[in-house]
Amino acid sequence: MDDKLFDARYEEYRVAVEEHLSRLFTDDVPWKKLNEAMRYSVLSGGKRLRPVLTLEVARLAGIRDWHNALPFACALELVHTYSLIHDDLPCMDNDELRRGKPTNHVVYGETLATLAGDALQPEAYRLIAEAPRLDAKAKIEAVAALAWASGANGMVAGQVLDLTDFGRDEASLRLLHDKKTCFMIKCAAELGCAAGRASIAVCEATQTYAAHLGLAFQIQDDLLDVVGDETTFGKPIGSDREEGKTTYVDLLGVDGCKAEVQRLTDEAIAALDGIGDTDFLITFAKKLANRDK
Ligand code: IPE
Ligand code: IPE
Ligand code: MG
Ligand code: MG
Ligand code: MG
Repeated sequence: MDDKLFDARYEEYRVAVEEHLSRLFTDDVPWKKLNEAMRYSVLSGGKRLRPVLTLEVARLAGIRDWHNALPFACALELVHTYSLIHDDLPCMDNDELRRGKPTNHVVYGETLATLAGDALQPEAYRLIAEAPRLDAKAKIEAVAALAWASGANGMVAGQVLDLTDFGRDEASLRLLHDKKTCFMIKCAAELGCAAGRASIAVCEATQTYAAHLGLAFQIQDDLLDVVGDETTFGKPIGSDREEGKTTYVDLLGVDGCKAEVQRLTDEAIAALDGIGDTDFLITFAKKLANRDK
């Protein structure tokens, strides 16, 4: 897809997501510090790649108007944001920079940061339940998909493997990356499929695509933690090593990681064969493979 067309569509999705998110947690309540802490991280300018993927998959699946899928897309972004707030806490990765800004606990303290992360989770399910233009079947599918992706056998399991004494061979690292990152990115496709009432072919293709994309994405993240630039990346460089993590860079080296990201990106793109207008998703995968932030 032409770069200009891609950028314009990405921007349209991103702006719609920002607007939807910016309407949340605005009440003037006695516990408004909590709202402030949630909004600080929710609106701190991430790439929004998961919600963008949800909206594009919903469009590809044939949804009447992709805006109808915004509550599902934003629900996933809320759960993603909670995972980042908790991921940065001193008891987890102990990081002080996120999206180029001080992390939530640095600004609001550990207690409020923990509680902001806690509150974002049920708020995500509320967004799904109250989505005005999606039917009950889509909502139930979305709730189940998000719970599976982020829960005790999904992202949280991945964080446990990452933060506790777990095997550091390639099979163990693959399982860890699958759980902590791929599941949430695959969930983006699942939510798009639920919202757009996708055919089995579109479900299978987009979810296989997203799973490969997710692994490539986390390997690139490991790589940027070593070779990235802090100002561009928006996160501290060398944090994984400081925390004693084994990453794909330790296993494959810098060049090996680059090759693996490319191989997985090719596999992701190949999975889309024969399901219609996938130009945006193809360009999306290529851009992520070359990202520096
Ligand atoms: C960061 O995800 C966490 C990982 C899974 C590596 P993103 O790189 O998508 O973070 P934001 O939302 O753009 O800040
Ligand atoms: C975290 O992986 C993935 C999450 C579940 C949040 P990382 O710990 O590598 O993510 P960053 O590098 O802090 O964004
Ligand atoms: Mg982590
Ligand atoms: Mg981290
Ligand atoms: Mg990382």
